[in-house]
Amino acid sequence: MTHLAICPGSFDPITLGHVDVVRRARSIFDEVIIAVAHNAKKSYVFSLDQRVALARQAVHGIDGVRVEVVSGLLADFAKEREAAAIVKGLRSSRDFDDELAMSLMNRHLSGVETVFVMGDPQFSHVASSMVKDIARHGGDVTGLVPDAVATALTRTFRDGR
Ligand code: PNS
Repeated sequence: MTHLAICPGSFDPITLGHVDVVRRARSIFDEVIIAVAHNAKKSYVFSLDQRVALARQAVHGIDGVRVEVVSGLLADFAKEREAAAIVKGLRSSRDFDDELAMSLMNRHLSGVETVFVMGDPQFSHVASSMVKDIARHGGDVTGLVPDAVATALTRTFRDGR
């Protein structure tokens, strides 16, 4: 039996911190699905197609990892795929506070456990929101995101100005 993990998120855009968590999930589970969430009420810098494409480029060549879209409830998505676990990365106790209720709710809805992994401390300051703000102001995002994401950020904010 193969054990599948789901790594969910907005991935707007995917960062090297996310990739680190996905690699850690893959070291524990046989297969990993990066589940890119789409919430019609949320505004994103990158379209769903762009977020999926950038995530695919970021994990290209990592065996056993694929990218899918989750448009409904994560709990339903995880249950349908008979996932062994949802895997999330924690950078700080603040992340934990945000994640606790979500993990309990997902378990309530689906019976699927959430497993938390600690990301590499070198990425503990990396967040998609900060990366976008840096890029928006013309700053350097090298070392924070995959190269393809850095290029996409530069293009998006240059064209948007
Ligand atoms: O990267 P983010 O924005 O912190 O990820 C949040 C995400 C996508 C994991 C969360 O919003 C989610 O699970 N969305 C799917 C819809 C859903 O299941 N909502 C109820 C969560 S208890």
